Amino acid sequence: MQSITEIKSLRSQIKAWRQAGLSIALVPTMGNLHQGHFSLVEKAKTLADKVVVSIFVNPMQFGANEDLDSYPRTLNEDKQGLAELGTDIVFTPSVETIYPNGLGEQSFVDVPGVSMGYCGGSRPGHFKGVATVVTKLFNLVQPDFACFGEKDFQQLQVIKTMTRDLSIPVEIIGVPTCREISGLAMSSRNGYLSDEQKDTAKVLFATLNNTATALKQGNADIATLEADAKAQLESAGLKPDYYAVAERSTLKPATTADKQLVILAAAYLGSVRLIDNLQVELD
Ligand code: PAF
Repeated sequence: MQSITEIKSLRSQIKAWRQAGLSIALVPTMGNLHQGHFSLVEKAKTLADKVVVSIFVNPMQFGANEDLDSYPRTLNEDKQGLAELGTDIVFTPSVETIYPNGLGEQSFVDVPGVSMGYCGGSRPGHFKGVATVVTKLFNLVQPDFACFGEKDFQQLQVIKTMTRDLSIPVEIIGVPTCREISGLAMSSRNGYLSDEQKDTAKVLFATLNNTATALKQGNADIATLEADAKAQLESAGLKPDYYAVAERSTLKPATTADKQLVILAAAYLGSVRLIDNLQVELD
C-alpha cells in the first residue's frame, strides 16, 4: 500500500493507472476506521482495479461547537487495517494541502433541497463542508466509483444529488450499515460511549424497527408514530434531535402515497450525538 500525503504524487499515480486502463474506486473517510469502513473498502475492491482510501478530518464540515479537536485520530491502526485489506493508496493530506488559503477564502459546493432539515438543520454548514471536500476528493482521485455508508443516509443523498446536478463522472455506491450484535450502528463516535451508554444507545435501532413494523402493518398516522418514537427514546434516556419518516430519495416528509421510505433519527446520549436510519418498503 502506498501512503500519500501530497497532491502531486497522488495525481501522478492516478495518471499512471489511467494510462494503463485501470479503473479506480474511492472510499472517503475521516479515519478511526471500524468494520463499517472496512466493508466500504471490501465493496470498492469488487468494483474497480485500484482502491484509494482517503483519511481527512475535514474542518469545513464541523460546526464551531462540535468535536473537531477531539475527533478520534488513529492513523497507524487505520493504515494497518487498510494494508491488510489490500488497499492500493491511503491518501492522508494535511488541512493546509486541502485548504491552502484557509476556510474563509474557500469556494464551496452547496446542495439545496436534500441538505435541508434533519442533520442539515441541526448542523448548519455541515453538508456544505461535506459536499465541498467530496468534490475536491473526486477531482483529485477522479474515481469511477465512490463508496459511502448508508448509515449517513442524508449525506449519501446529498452526494448522489450533487454528483447528478454537477455531472461528475463517478458512480456513487451506498453500502449497508454495519451494526454491533446489539443493533447499534457502528460509528467512530461510539468510542465516546461507556458500556452502559452503549446499552442505552441500542434503543435507537430498536425504536426504528418498531416504527418500521407499524408502517408495514398499515399504520399511516406518521405524526403519531414519530411522537411515539421520540417518547420511547426519551424514556430510555436519549434526547431526540429529530425523528422523521421521509420519502427515500427526496427526503421530503413521507405522504401516504409514498412507498419507498426511510426513517431518519438523531439523538443525544449525554453529549454524544448518535444517528441512524432504516429503509422501509411498503407494497
Ligand atoms: O462520512 C464521512 O466520514 C465524511 O463525512 C466524508 C464523506 C469522508 C467527508 O468528509
